[in-house]
Amino acid sequence: MLAIIGGSGMTQLSCLEISHRQIIRTPYGEPSGPFTFGKVNDYEIVFLARHGHGHTIPPHLVNYRANLWALNTLKPKYVIAVAAVGGIREDMVPGKLVIPDQIIDYTHGRDSTYFNTTDEPVTHIDFTYPYCSATRAQLFKAAKLAGESVIDGGVYAAVQGPRLETAAEINRLERDGADMVGMTGMPETALARELGLNYATLAVVANHAAGRGTNIAAVPLKEIFVVLEAAMVHVRNIIEHLVNCYGD
Ligand code: HPA
Repeated sequence: MLAIIGGSGMTQLSCLEISHRQIIRTPYGEPSGPFTFGKVNDYEIVFLARHGHGHTIPPHLVNYRANLWALNTLKPKYVIAVAAVGGIREDMVPGKLVIPDQIIDYTHGRDSTYFNTTDEPVTHIDFTYPYCSATRAQLFKAAKLAGESVIDGGVYAAVQGPRLETAAEINRLERDGADMVGMTGMPETALARELGLNYATLAVVANHAAGRGTNIAAVPLKEIFVVLEAAMVHVRNIIEHLVNCYGD
């Protein structure tokens, strides 16, 4: 089974032939919503809308621990996290797709680990390469087969939100080495690693980051959603090809 976590602009997976929906309870509380099960080209897929079905859960209030815990009970072969980002690097323009290979965490105050008890040996997961390389490779291969252009690699800066950044903050993120900025990459990516999930992100550039591009102010949300909707056609195309090369 392939698991897809849908971000902004992807509250449902329209290529999915839905079989059923299931609520999964966890020791960490409620996931963002029921899990949608179905098939794409005869392959079993489970889908979760990160921000809830009606896109009502802001990034800092997503119950990442519950989402990943619930997904892990389904033992998916790969987890693909689709995530909207602001583009910092020059070539990361609205509509571009990126498979990031590194992440910098600027979030705070989120429940970011399963290892927060005092009655187990202290555990430090290896997070040198935060995304699963095999999953990234499959995504890249699927994109190639689908004829979709994706940028292979890039540094994702995970910020707290929900506000957008200042121009100075984006300059700082760039100096830190970040290529794109988003609000949901952490702790999701680290929790996936703690659980041993084969997790990779397919980032969709929704807008130029603050102070970049030709806009002097942030692009209105309505325009961002237009970009995201257009990009989702390409995301779905990649997912359809991903299930085709799934067994490889
Ligand atoms: N900043 C942070 N998160 C985002 C952005 C942005 O510009 N665009 C989409 N998610």
